[in-house]
Amino acid sequence: MLEKSGREFVIPEGKSILEVLRDAGLDVDFSCEQGICGACQVQVVEGEPDHRDMFLSDEEKAEGGMMICCSGSKTPRLTLAL
Ligand code: FES
Repeated sequence: MLEKSGREFVIPEGKSILEVLRDAGLDVDFSCEQGICGACQVQVVEGEPDHRDMFLSDEEKAEGGMMICCSGSKTPRLTLAL
């Protein structure tokens, strides 16, 4: 779920959050799509991400940062500050 717009998306297996948001026409920042550049970072408002990037430090993850090009969710629902 996106906090600002209230829009909700289901992320199919094999697709990234970034891909689903871009497919829906959202203008989201990205570059490498491999979890290494930091361009796609968003803030998690609610839920627990499944971090799969190589960019964020443990401290940044603890502060709610998430890379949507490669990371998923451990909880059924994730709310992002978008
Ligand atoms: Fe580079 Fe996500 S696009 S880390």
